[in-house]
Amino acid sequence: MSILSNKHILLGVTGSIAGYKAADLASKLAQAGADVDVILTNAGEKFVTPLTFQSVTGRRAYTDNDLWGNEAHVLHVSFGKTADLLVIAPCTADTIAKLANGIADNLLTVTALAATCPLVIAPAMDGGMFDHPATQDNLAKLKERGAIIVGPAEGHLASGLTGTGRMVEPAEILGHIRIVLGRKGKLAGKKVVVTAGGTQEALDPVRVITNHSSGKQGYAIAQAALDSGADVCLVTAPTALTAPVGARVVKVNSAEEMLKAVLAESADALIMAAAAADFRPKNAAKDKMKKRDGIPQIELEATPDILKTVSGSPVDKKRFQVMVGFAAESQNLLENAAEKLKSKKLDFIVANDISASDAGFAVETNRVTILFANGERENLPLTSKMEVAEIIIEHTSRLLE
Ligand code: C5P
Repeated sequence: MSILSNKHILLGVTGSIAGYKAADLASKLAQAGADVDVILTNAGEKFVTPLTFQSVTGRRAYTDNDLWGNEAHVLHVSFGKTADLLVIAPCTADTIAKLANGIADNLLTVTALAATCPLVIAPAMDGGMFDHPATQDNLAKLKERGAIIVGPAEGHLASGLTGTGRMVEPAEILGHIRIVLGRKGKLAGKKVVVTAGGTQEALDPVRVITNHSSGKQGYAIAQAALDSGADVCLVTAPTALTAPVGARVVKVNSAEEMLKAVLAESADALIMAAAAADFRPKNAAKDKMKKRDGIPQIELEATPDILKTVSGSPVDKKRFQVMVGFAAESQNLLENAAEKLKSKKLDFIVANDISASDAGFAVETNRVTILFANGERENLPLTSKMEVAEIIIEHTSRLLE
C-alpha cells in the first residue's frame, strides 16, 4: 500500500501562473491513492478553475463561495481536523504573509489557521518578491513553526526575468509530501543503504560491459525506505531514473567503485538491488581500441563480490545489521538463490526469474520469491516493483526490531 493510500490531503492553490502545475500535483496525489480536497483562493480561481481539480481528484473543489455557504460553519474546522497534510502549491507571497501572521480572511487561510496537520508550502512569485525581507521574515517564521518550505527554484519567471521564484516541479513537491507523511514510520531513526542499477565495466575509455538492469527495483526500494522514515543512501550505477527526493545519492560506475561506496557507509541495513557485474575486462585499454587493429581478444577477471566482501569480514559485517541480496536468474532460480543466500550470509534474498517478459529487467512489474535465512519462503504474485519494494522494507524493518 502506497504511503499516500487513503491519506486525506488538502491542496491549497493560490494566485500564480504556476497554478496549472498544481493540477498535475493533484492528479499525482490522487493516482497515488490519496483523497485530495482542493481549496482555491479567489486569485487561484482566476488561473485554474475548480472543474480542473474536480476532474483530476474526483472530488469537488472548494472556493471562497463555500466560506459563506451552508456548510461554512463546519467546513474549515472539519478540514483542519481530518487532513493528514496541508500543502499549498503554488503559495504566493501574499498567502505566505497571511499564514505567518495568522490572518484568516479566506477559506484557505481560515483552514490553515484551524489545521493541526503538517504544512508544506511551495512558494511561487517574482524574484524580487521572494528576496524581499518581508517574505524572507515570513518564511523564517513559518519554518520555525515547523512548516516545510519546498523551493522556490531558480530560472525563468513569468515576468520574463530570471531569478528565484519558480514553483518546484510537482514530482519534487510529492517527494517532500511523502517524507513528511513517512517521518514517524517504522524505519524512523534508521539508516538504509540501497544499491541500484547495472554497473559498467570499462573496456576502453569509450566502451563498457554492462547489463539490462534499469535500476527501477532499487530506486523503488529507496523510495519505500524513505516512505518508512529511513535515512537513505542510494548507491547507484548509471540509470535513466530520477532519484527519490530525500535520498543521498552516491553515483558509481563499476562494481569496484560500488564496493568502495558501500564500505564508506555504515547503516542498519544494506539492500543490494544492484546488478553488479561478476566479470570485468582484465586490462581496460588506456586509449580507444581501433577497428583497424582487428577484433580484440578480451580477457575477463572476477570483480569483487560486494556482499561477500562485507559478510566475509567481521569489521565490515558490523556496518550493517541486516543484509539483503537479489538473485536474478534465468534457470534454477530457487536453488541458485538459496546458494547465494548462504554463501553471501544474507538475512534474506529476493529471487526473480528474469526469463519472464513481465518480470525482472526494465519492466514495471516483478514476480519474486523471498528466501529467508531461517528457511522460510514467501512467494509473491506478479506485482508492481513498488509493492515488492514495500514488502522488502516491511521485512527489513521487522528484522531490525
Ligand atoms: O551476481 P549475483 O547473481 O551473484 O548477485 C546476487 C547478489 O549479489 C545481488 O544482490 C548483487 O547485488 C550482489 N552482488 C555483489 N557483488 C557483485 C555481484 C553481485 O554484491 N560483484
